[in-house]
Amino acid sequence: MSDERTQDRVGRRFAGRVVIVTGASREPSIGRATAMRVGREGASVVVNAREAGPLAEAERALAEAGIPVVAVRGSMEEEATAQRIVEAAGAAFGRLDGVVNTVGGNRFLGSPRTMTRSELLETIELNTWGPVALVQRAIEGGLGAGGAVVNVSSGTVRKTTPKMIAYAAGKAALDAITRTLARDLATLGIRVNAVAPGFTRTDGTRSMWAPDDGAVAARNLPLGRLTRAEDIAAACAFLLSDDAMQITGCVLDVDGGNHLQGGGWTPMTDPTIQGRTG
Ligand SMILES: NC(=O)c1ccc[n+]([C@@H]2O[C@H](COP(=O)([O-])OP(=O)(O)OC[C@H]3O[C@@H](n4cnc5c(N)ncnc54)[C@H](OP(=O)(O)O)[C@@H]3O)[C@@H](O)[C@H]2O)c1
Repeated sequence: MSDERTQDRVGRRFAGRVVIVTGASREPSIGRATAMRVGREGASVVVNAREAGPLAEAERALAEAGIPVVAVRGSMEEEATAQRIVEAAGAAFGRLDGVVNTVGGNRFLGSPRTMTRSELLETIELNTWGPVALVQRAIEGGLGAGGAVVNVSSGTVRKTTPKMIAYAAGKAALDAITRTLARDLATLGIRVNAVAPGFTRTDGTRSMWAPDDGAVAARNLPLGRLTRAEDIAAACAFLLSDDAMQITGCVLDVDGGNHLQGGGWTPMTDPTIQGRTG
């Protein structure tokens, strides 16, 4: 194949396909960057978030980029949202090829010695049930052979940062769910993978990178560069695409080499940096 044709194929990997991305409104965020990435590569996208203003702004930005887009407002913690998203995909575009679950996060930031039962269980629920429910509804709504799911996990799973205990447990459960669904849904021809970001420059981590534009975080990574939402989006797009057609059940680290440090520096261990995810 000539270089030009290869570029053509890579550039339009999602032509004619429909992809749902949850948590895809704020700028910058992993969800919004992923919706933009797969949309630029030809996908029609269904984006979701809770607040109307940022969601409408994301919808406008995607539409201005020439991407067919539908926005569904609602929390992935509410039972009906997954169903409404899948119905919107069917009504607007008539098919469903991919799901990217980015909603998750850290409800509890404190000592494992004072963590309550509800802080642990609610954090695990936030990071697991939404992705499972959306995959269930997506299969009912037409996701089938050739389809793919990408869950956004976290490198925190392997970092043993004490005050991130509930979040790490939630994402570890999501990794187990990813591998188990991969095995189960392979029988339907659907692939299921995850991306594990390290500390990434997003709206959710703004208070941790904004003061120095991420200089400390970048300095503490082997690759010396702060991870951007677009870096995670590129990995999500790869795992969603046919370029990854023989890959299922993997959790891909995208973190500038942070996991190589074996529990080394994270913004969460730096007393000068405050924030809610990582
Ligand atoms: N950034 C990092 O350093 C990092 C590192 C590792 C893993 N992660 C994981 O990556 C994922 C995305 O993180 P991010 O940093 O991109 O987040 P973010 O910048 O805080 O953006 C989150 C997006 O999801 C929406 N959202 C939040 N809760 C929602 C809910 N319950 N239902 C529907 N939409 C919701 C938000 O809009 P609304 O608030 O309007 O709903 C927003 O558009 C999370 O699972 C996070 O745990 C992030």
